[in-house]
Amino acid sequence: MEKVTIRDMSDHDLDGVYLLEAGCDPVPWSVSALKYELENKESILKVALLDDTVIGYTCIRTLLDVTHVMKISVNPEYRRNGVGRLLLTESIKLLRTLKPGVKYVTLEVRESNYAAITLYDNSGFKRTGKRINYYRNPVEDGLIMQLDLSIVSG
Ligand SMILES: CC(C)(COP(=O)(O)OP(=O)(O)OC[C@H]1O[C@@H](n2cnc3c(N)ncnc32)[C@H](O)[C@@H]1OP(=O)(O)O)[C@@H](O)C(=O)NCCC(=O)NCCS
Repeated sequence: MEKVTIRDMSDHDLDGVYLLEAGCDPVPWSVSALKYELENKESILKVALLDDTVIGYTCIRTLLDVTHVMKISVNPEYRRNGVGRLLLTESIKLLRTLKPGVKYVTLEVRESNYAAITLYDNSGFKRTGKRINYYRNPVEDGLIMQLDLSIVSG
């Protein structure tokens, strides 16, 4: 695949990210929800671009000393090219710089989402629990996974 650029998301990316979001998530965030996150000082949003087109994005949000992976999506046409891993790595790298006091990165993931679970497993996240019927459309349990930043380098 040609060169993919990862950079901070800006207002100009809102439409492109919304299109991606609507194509990837059964419960997509609206443009105004995305805008809210962009304006939230506790959130870090990154986009992956190929020829100026948004092909992936991620949003992580911090509450006290824990950061939550809110969203990570890659356009289905460009999956398995390392874009998801790059987005996650770059977001956590910036998090460590901006918020050195953060101890854990946590997330929920559908139990059936093998691709995402494998990405998180291979990025150092550990399974720490389960939320019963956490997801809707369709209803499904969510695995809770957590990355201990004091153990993982980077
Ligand atoms: C999860 C997601 C973001 C991964 O994006 P991606 O760009 O395809 O991931 P990468 O190519 O960076 O993969 C990194 C690693 O994750 C694992 N992985 C990713 N997709 C996988 C799959 N379909 N099957 C098995 N392992 C997979 C592999 O270990 C892979 O490394 P490798 O290719 O060297 O083996 C993408 O599948 C996606 O957008 N899914 C829909 C949205 C979603 O479910 N988000 C997560 C919500 S919690």
